[in-house]
Amino acid sequence: MSGQGIDPTRRRLLAVTTGLGLVGAGFAAAPFVLSMMPSARARARGAPVAVDISKLEPGQMLIVEWRGKPVWIVNRTAEMLASLAQLDEAVADPRSEDSIQPVYAINEARSIKPEILVLVGICTHLGCSPLAKLVSGAASGLGREWRGGFFCPCHGSKFDLAGRVYKNVPAPTNLVVPPYGFLSDTRIIIGEHPEKGIA
Ligand code: FES
Repeated sequence: MSGQGIDPTRRRLLAVTTGLGLVGAGFAAAPFVLSMMPSARARARGAPVAVDISKLEPGQMLIVEWRGKPVWIVNRTAEMLASLAQLDEAVADPRSEDSIQPVYAINEARSIKPEILVLVGICTHLGCSPLAKLVSGAASGLGREWRGGFFCPCHGSKFDLAGRVYKNVPAPTNLVVPPYGFLSDTRIIIGEHPEKGIA
């Protein structure tokens, strides 16, 4: 499809989505990546963005745009969640004491509901958007020991499935968790917490 006629923001998000889709396409077990655009009016205001996650299956990732940034929503499987406790020694800030997230995401899963992860998809080193490498093992391309997470090809930073940064990589802190909350079991709002206000 030609890029002509697509506004620059949409073109950028499509590029992100296409890149991740290609990653997913290479591996049978890899997650399917969906994308959603907020309305032009919501984008202009930097307003909170409501997202329908009813079709987000376990192991899948959805990308939305909020304030011009990609926000990732991952429906983590039980196996993905189990990997987190095993990585406490490998990550630099296991309890997210030096990282940015709302108070309600200061826990091991860095989320309100354990299975639903919400992250700003921007590397905390110099701002590249890391690649989703959600599958574990050699199929990820990151070695047999890889437990699933995100890889920033710019300078090699690695993050686990809670966005926690591995030790000895350039990124100084965990990926940012934005303010968010649940409007219902299948609807999330990015940019504010419905009960706590903008956090
Ligand atoms: S921008 Fe991600 S490692 Fe440098």
